Amino acid sequence: MTKILLVGCGHMGSALLMSWLNLKSYSFTVVDPYNLNHLKNKLKRKKIDILNKVPSNKKMKTFDIIIFAVRPQIANDVLCEYQNFKLKKNIVIGSIIAGKKINFFKKRIKNANQFVRIMPNMPALVRNGISCLVSNSNLSLINKKKLNELFLKVGKTLWLKNESQIDKATAVSGSGPGYIFILIHAFEKAAQKIGFSKNQSRDLITSTMLGSIYLMQETKQEPKELAIKIAVKGGTTEAGIKNLKNNNIDTIIYKTIMSAYDRAKILSKKN
Ligand SMILES: NC(=O)c1ccc[n+]([C@@H]2O[C@H](COP(=O)([O-])OP(=O)(O)OC[C@H]3O[C@@H](n4cnc5c(N)ncnc54)[C@H](OP(=O)(O)O)[C@@H]3O)[C@@H](O)[C@H]2O)c1
Repeated sequence: MTKILLVGCGHMGSALLMSWLNLKSYSFTVVDPYNLNHLKNKLKRKKIDILNKVPSNKKMKTFDIIIFAVRPQIANDVLCEYQNFKLKKNIVIGSIIAGKKINFFKKRIKNANQFVRIMPNMPALVRNGISCLVSNSNLSLINKKKLNELFLKVGKTLWLKNESQIDKATAVSGSGPGYIFILIHAFEKAAQKIGFSKNQSRDLITSTMLGSIYLMQETKQEPKELAIKIAVKGGTTEAGIKNLKNNNIDTIIYKTIMSAYDRAKILSKKN
């Protein structure tokens, strides 16, 4: 049995935990001082140890994996509470905390030598996310497999070779759902402007988005090829695409990602 300690069980922590509950070879302890009653209600009848404070010395020695899922602003205070424990020899310290580097954890948890930083994204809440993972060189194969198994429960996983790629992943997939929601909103507003109701616009846009992605996945064709196929000469799609190109859609998207990437670099320099 692999024993996991999850520190922080808010939006992302609880999404992870709920998806992990049916994994048979894992057991879970959760620390979340302020949401104790809410968690106890939500997780009643599940075999989870829910604590409102740092586990005892004796208990700390039993964990195989610790995952920190608190907000970046309190990460330092929370980590201070965990720094002096004796830990299992092969323990792995994982964190989903945005902007906090592996070094931040290494400096504070000196009794561990395997560290993994993970950047999930919001669709993990509905088990359709993508999590980017990066570790220090000490991560054992067995721990890598376990973490992969855990994060596959909330979508896909992508292991990165070096930590600098995490800031890039943050700009693309971490913040990505935000861009997609803005695009959906813009399409819906435009559909309403030309006469569709709010509900009709939602159906038209979400079905079109979902259907286009399914088509791309099933046919394994490049998006550019598919666009060319739809845009027959003199037709409506060609007219619409011409407008996107004239307004530099590629540059807009590139600048969007670069703005997020620049911000991610600044935020991760702060620790
Ligand atoms: N949400 C996302 O889409 C997403 C995506 C990628 C990465 N992340 C990262 O995931 C982390 C958590 O995000 P979130 O959206 O889940 O935030 P959240 O909902 O605020 O969850 C954090 C939880 O930690 C609890 N907490 C506070 N002090 C604690 C302590 N001393 N020990 C243990 N738990 C404590 C908080 O309780 P209170 O609320 O009562 O303070 C809250 O329940 C962040 O660092 C974020 O960067 C989130």
